[in-house]
Amino acid sequence: MVTTMTGFTTEDYLSSKYLRHMVLDFIQMGQFMREPLVYDRGEGIWVWDVNGEKYLDGISGVWVTSLGHSNQRVVNAIKNQLEKLAFCSPILSTNTRAVEYVEMLGKTTPEGLTTIKILSGGSEATETAIKLVRQYFHQTGRPSKKTIISRYNNFHGVTIGALTATGMADRKIPFEPLAGGFRHIAPPYCLRCPYKLKYPECDVLCARILEQVIQYEGPETVAAFIAEPIQLSTGNIVPPPEYWPIIREICDKYDVMIILDEVATGMGRTGKMWGAQTFEFTPDVLCMGKGMAAGYMPLSGVAFRDEVADAFISDKKEMAFADGHTYGGNPVACAAGIAVLQELQERNLVERCALMGHYLKEKLEDLRELGVVGDIRGKGLMLGIEFAQNLETMEPFPRQLGFGIKVGRTCIQQEKMLVRYSPDWVAVAPPFIIEKDEIDDIVERLGRAIITVLNQTRE
Ligand SMILES: Cc1ncc(COP(=O)(O)O)c(C=O)c1O
Repeated sequence: MVTTMTGFTTEDYLSSKYLRHMVLDFIQMGQFMREPLVYDRGEGIWVWDVNGEKYLDGISGVWVTSLGHSNQRVVNAIKNQLEKLAFCSPILSTNTRAVEYVEMLGKTTPEGLTTIKILSGGSEATETAIKLVRQYFHQTGRPSKKTIISRYNNFHGVTIGALTATGMADRKIPFEPLAGGFRHIAPPYCLRCPYKLKYPECDVLCARILEQVIQYEGPETVAAFIAEPIQLSTGNIVPPPEYWPIIREICDKYDVMIILDEVATGMGRTGKMWGAQTFEFTPDVLCMGKGMAAGYMPLSGVAFRDEVADAFISDKKEMAFADGHTYGGNPVACAAGIAVLQELQERNLVERCALMGHYLKEKLEDLRELGVVGDIRGKGLMLGIEFAQNLETMEPFPRQLGFGIKVGRTCIQQEKMLVRYSPDWVAVAPPFIIEKDEIDDIVERLGRAIITVLNQTRE
């Protein structure tokens, strides 16, 4: 039964008459109106659309709903807080939940990153991190340190600073000119190395090149290197184990901060609470979002070292961090965040994510027999497969064929399973509460979708 607050019928929810007044993210609305997907409710790893069709949420919304849908502890925490205090302005005050949450969160973050600015969205977090680092150098006697180096193919959000750091041309071109003071380097991508080298003989050039770029730019001008621990938007690309320690060493040598964008990897997704812990290094600034409130409220944040925070504490007004958002540290969002953290910790869900991720990765190996799976990669419950039409040369399918797009769309439309996809890959990232038989189900649906598209391609 569809819930309605307004007298809308099922047909209304799917009607172009209403949908044409909406704008969804990165979606061509013309196509969406022909194939609308409108959800009404969710429970555990399942969601139902307005037609009553049941879908397996194989991507946790978008790497968000780690506890699954309708978690009663989180729902009750939100209800209780709503009745007590729904809002207070971060320009004048803070609130009890925000104080508690920052303290709890700071016990989970990598060593020393215990000062945390709480925000609402991932782009807000990366944008804030960039501004934090620039203002920090500005008021600690190194005002020329402004340049932010990031990687091609990484995604850091859509606000202008975050988008400038993003390395995806198609998302940026319409908005040029973007912000000044950003540079990019090639990302790690062993399957099809941008330098045409082979690991380990490559000596991890993709990390070492950062030193050259800092030298070319002038170390006195470079403020930070920002990157995702696992490159999500190009299908969960995992760097070689030496990558992050090399980056850490170079950044230390040149007094350059590492901003780790953990908006997607954070809060358990890689099988440890933070991707930094999975890759065993400590960034200077850590951006978080998505899984923090597991989809129950908009919530994000930026964690950084107390020494950095000290540079902003003084009697001088102009030394305060000149940044803020109306909904930052919102009490209801923080109540949701606390309940999510309690669920993760008390039910050992991060360990469970590691265990189930291992099982899912093993099961995905079965798909290799279909002859088009070139790579299976990721950590924890953040996995992806990349397709290749020739497994010897790893030659991808022609881009215009959109092989991965077809597989993804078949997963959603025929197999009733939500995934993320691109021309070359499909990603799966189910909630941490998933059971083994449900993982088997995911792999079966994905396998059937690949076979369907292979058959269509051969016709
Ligand atoms: C790594 C990363 N950073 C930043 C963002 C932006 O987050 P939001 O969409 O909440 O603004 C995303 C969103 O997908 C992301 O994956």
